[in-house]
This record gives sequence, C-alpha cells and structure tokens, in this order.
Amino acid sequence: MATSQRKILVTSALPYANGPIHLGHMLEYIQTDIWARFQKLRGHECHYICADDAHGTPIMLKAQQLGLAPEEMIAQVQKEHEQDFADFNIAFDNFHSTHSDENRALASDIYLKLRDGGYIKSRTISQLFDPEKSMFLPDRFVKGTCPKCKSVDQYGDNCDNCGATYSPTDLIDPKSAVSGATPVMKDSEHFFFDLPTFEEMLKEWTRSGSLQQEMANKLGEWFDQGLQQWDISRDAPYFGFEIPDAPGKFFYVWLDAPIGYMGSFKNLCDKRDDLNFDDFWAKDSTAEVYHFIGKDIVYFHSLFWPAMLEGAGYRKPNSVYAHGYVTVNGAKMSKSKGTFIKARTYLDNLNPEYLRYYYAAKLSSRIDDLDLNLEDFAQRVNSDLVGKLVNLASRTAGFISKRFDGKLAQVEDQSLTELFLAKQETIAQFYETREFGKAMREIMALADIANGYVADAAPWQLIKQDDKQQEAHQVCSNALNLFRILVTYLKPVLPQLAKDVEGFLQLTLTWNDLGRDLSGHEIAPFKALMQRVEMKDIEAIIAASTENLQVTEAPKSQLELDPISEEISFDDFAKLDLRIARIAKAEHVPEANKLLKLQLDLGGETKQVFAGIKSAYAPEDLEGKLTVMVANLAPRKMRFGMSEGMVLAAGPGKKDLWILEPHEGAQPGMRVK
Ligand code: 2FM
Ligand code: ZN
Repeated sequence: MATSQRKILVTSALPYANGPIHLGHMLEYIQTDIWARFQKLRGHECHYICADDAHGTPIMLKAQQLGLAPEEMIAQVQKEHEQDFADFNIAFDNFHSTHSDENRALASDIYLKLRDGGYIKSRTISQLFDPEKSMFLPDRFVKGTCPKCKSVDQYGDNCDNCGATYSPTDLIDPKSAVSGATPVMKDSEHFFFDLPTFEEMLKEWTRSGSLQQEMANKLGEWFDQGLQQWDISRDAPYFGFEIPDAPGKFFYVWLDAPIGYMGSFKNLCDKRDDLNFDDFWAKDSTAEVYHFIGKDIVYFHSLFWPAMLEGAGYRKPNSVYAHGYVTVNGAKMSKSKGTFIKARTYLDNLNPEYLRYYYAAKLSSRIDDLDLNLEDFAQRVNSDLVGKLVNLASRTAGFISKRFDGKLAQVEDQSLTELFLAKQETIAQFYETREFGKAMREIMALADIANGYVADAAPWQLIKQDDKQQEAHQVCSNALNLFRILVTYLKPVLPQLAKDVEGFLQLTLTWNDLGRDLSGHEIAPFKALMQRVEMKDIEAIIAASTENLQVTEAPKSQLELDPISEEISFDDFAKLDLRIARIAKAEHVPEANKLLKLQLDLGGETKQVFAGIKSAYAPEDLEGKLTVMVANLAPRKMRFGMSEGMVLAAGPGKKDLWILEPHEGAQPGMRVK
C-alpha cells in the first residue's frame, strides 16, 4: 500500500424509522458501503456508521395510527431496516437509533454549548394549530386549496399541481390533515440557531473542503441569498428529546438527526476498547470524517451541521458527498407502475450483488440522477458478471481439478498478470474519488482481455491432446490468477461473490496481496458462482410492487375522482329530452377508431347517432337492446354523416364503458324524467 494508514469515519444518511427501505435508499447505502469496504481492503482504519432517524411528527402520528407507542414502532422498523441492509451486504460497523441515550446526551451537550456560546436566540412566532388535536401543524400536515392555481387538496408548503411555494397560512380553506379541523393561528416561543454568525467560517469550509463542484455552487447561491436563523424547537406533543431547561419544548428532529452520527459512533466506542470517540470528533482530531447523502438534504449537512459542530467546539466533516435520485425506467419511482420497489421485494427475487454491481457501474462522483433501467440491468449483469467474470473461472477451473489434482502451475508468461497489476493504482484512484463507473469499466476491460486470451488459447482443445497438457495447465492457471485479481478489484462491490471465490481459491483476497504467486497452490472444486438474471424475476418484482399499492392505498371513490357538478335548476333539467330508444342497427365505422354507428328506433322515428363506445361493445351485442338517448340535442355534422343525439353511458373509457339500459317493459319513445 502506497499511503500510510488513515483513520476514517464514514456515514450514510439516517433513514426515517416510519417506512421500509426502497431501491432509492439503497443507492446511497451501496455507494457508501463500496467506499468503506474499499478503504478497509486497502488496509485503512475505516468505520461505517449509521442509525435510524427516529424522531419527529410523522413518526409520532404514524405510531398513533398503528395504535403503537412510538418506541414500539421504531424498534420494529429498525429491525426490518437492519435485516434489509444485512441482506444487501451493507457492512455497517454500527447501526443505532437517534432515540438513544448516547444521542440524548450528545444533543443536550451540543445544544448547551451553543446556548452558552450565545448562538441560540428565542422569539415568539405564530403558527397554524390544530384545535382538536391540540398540536401545532408542520407544513406537510396542513392541506387546502392552492392560492395560485386554486387546485384543491394541496400541502401547506407547495402545490403539486402548479409548483408554487407558499406558507401554510396562504392556503385557501386550510384543514388539518391530522383531524380535518380548521387550524387556528397560535403563538409560541421558539428557539433559533444563529446560522448567520457562521457565514465566514462556512465560506472558508466550502473553499477548503473537497466539496463537489455542484455543491460548492449551490452553497454560493445560498450565501448570496443570505443565511437565516434556524428554528430548532418544537412544542409538545412531539416525539423527540425535551430541550434542557425548557419544559414542553423539544429538539426539532433535524437537530438531533446528524448528531445521531456521533451517537451511533459513541455507542460503538463504548462496545470496543480500541476506539476512542475524541480521536474522531475532538476539535484537533486528525481522523477523516465523510458524510454520504442525497441531494435533497445538502442544506442540513453543509450549513447547519458544520456550523453546529463549530459552535459546540467539535471538528467539522472533511467533506459531504451528495448523490442524485434513482429513477426507474427513466421515470420517478411510481407505485402504480410497480417501480417503487422495496428492498425486501427485490431481495425476495434477486441476488443483491446484481444491484450493487449495476449501481456501481453507473455511479460517478457527481450529483446526477441514476436510472435503473430494468432491461439494461439484466443485460449488463448477465453480460459483465456472468458472461465475462464468472465465465473465466467456469471455463478453466474444471480442468485444474480433474486433470491437475486441483493444483495451479507456475505460470511462465507473466505479461497479462503484469498488465492487470499495473492497473491497480488507476482502479484504486477511481474508487477513492467515487468514480465507481470508471473503475468498473477498467475492470471489465481487463476481463475482456482475459476472456480473449482464454478463447484464443482454447484449453478445451489443448486438453484433448497428449502433448499439450502442460500448455493447458498453463492457460487455466493463468486464467484463474487473472480471475483472482479481477475479483479482488471487485471485492468492495461484490463481497459475497468474493467470499465464495475465496472459498474456491482457498485464499483471502486482499489488495496488498494482489501480486501473490499461486504456483503449486491448491484450489477447491469449482461450484457455480452466479446465475443469470431472468426477465421473469424482474416481472415478479414489478408485480409484487404493484400489489403493494393495492394493499396500502385505499382506492378513491368515484365522487372523489369526479366531484358532482354545479347545481342546476329544474328548468335547466327539463330542457333535456331523454327518450327510451331501441338499437335497431349497430355497425362499425371503417374510418373511425372509436365510433359505432347506431340507428335508434324511437317508436315511429329513427335517429342516427355516432357513439364513442367501440372499445367496449361489439355491434352485434347491441342490436335489439333498449337504451336511453338525448333526443333533442342539436344534430352535428360529422365526417361520416349526421349525428342526431347521444346515448348515455358511464365509465372512464376504453373497456370500462357501460351504456344505460332501462328495466324490462319500457317502450321506445317514452320520455325519461
Ligand atoms: O432525509 C432523511 O431521510 C433524513 N432522515 C436523513 C437524516 S440524515 C442525518 F442528518 F441524520
Ligand atoms: Zn397550484
């Protein structure tokens, strides 16, 4: 290893303890896990820390809905989260909860240092309050009509329909989403963290840190807009930590969430004699601290968090690395399309290492969104991992076991080994700088070279010739050694495969040992290492994810989907002349995709109507039936002839259309009233 041993603490954002982990979350845990595993593989001291983010109003209300104490709910969710992560081979050194003694102590300590340093201000503010539930309402828990576009049922902070942002008090006809009551304004004293005091320090940190360019630009914009004081308190009832010396006031969830990184690390230090909390967090610490996060929470991590640490006398992170969002098949993950995929649903159907590889292959150091295209996913995994990587061993290992007592030859031509080893620093640099896609491309280019070599040498031909046995032994041994180097390079991404290969090659794969000589080394018989991804597995995931929606989201009623129209007078109604009609004839209109041509017998008079019901009815099924028509509608000239009225039908369209049919006994021509 070229560099001396580093001490590194790395974190992923803490998932909220009120919902399952999905494939959007997994991008970040996989990204961080690969980076942490890489550091360990290179021999550095690296601790990967995480926890559940257990506080706040949504968690309190969700627990109430479930009829559970919040402590019970967060414990259940934490168990599920930990299982999902473990099954995705995410190797946290510690996973804890923000609702912990360590976090309570650290949050109080930091707050008191900030308060005593003069960085906490208090003032009274007025906010929407639910009089039925006796609670202040966060913006997301107020719903009403958008003041701009008048779209109903919009959240208190922004409108899904027109994108306007506003304050919940601007909503027309606001309602509490918790109780349905009309909120009232109520005063309360709040505590604020004085962020603007830290502006110069934050600018300096932005300049000196290894921040991504996009993040530095964003920070620049925020500095230009001016920093604001940050409201860090919430009133009871609230699930969180009560603020010292302020009964009934609680820390806002986002205050103690990042402190949760420290809390989880403290919990680890208390379990291990060889780890010291201050070595990593004291002001003069020489350890490195990095936070991996999503782009939506940059503000918290690059402004509030370093400022809080500075104000309370702790060290600041070396950097904060943001990634973009996951889209599936080019669009936002969607429950109705079955692309909102839970980690568990994926794990029930597919090998986690496929996703680890696919995300790695598409990740860069930038904040771009990443598309999980499911067809491309299957194709890439099958071609790279099964076709190129595993194939290298499966085509050569059998001969070593069957013909050469499981022992590898001393390889005479070292040129490919040298070529492969010469790439180690390039690949390491790509891992270090989070350019995982580039690292994967380098590695797969080497795999192509190794496969080309095996294909040209064709050991399956050599093995059949008595005088070529030694050559076959050379080729297979060489190929397996190249395979060993490739799997070592991929070990951070594919830890389970690496473990299986370690069993098969009977050695440990480490970066320091990349150049090891395998002459005479004995290997175990080869067992299949990885299966191809089948489209049926992907289809099963989509189907299971689509069902989730049906179970969890109540369908909307017809009236919710299509509210009753404005009131009309009886006179308005009486203008409509509705009549019973018999469908004397029904036929296709060759040039029209949607229309059927109907001849409607009104008992003496026949009217011709073009009706848009072709998607739901075959003409022969309609002939002879009674229906209801609007008989006094002004005739309309259509491309195919005159339409002299309308038949009445209900339904959203396509196959779901139903024309009205009167009960037995009604006669053509009778008025409907
Ligand atoms: O956005 C979220 O999902 C938060 N729970 C992340 C918290 S990260 C850290 F600050 F705790
Ligand atoms: Zn709007």
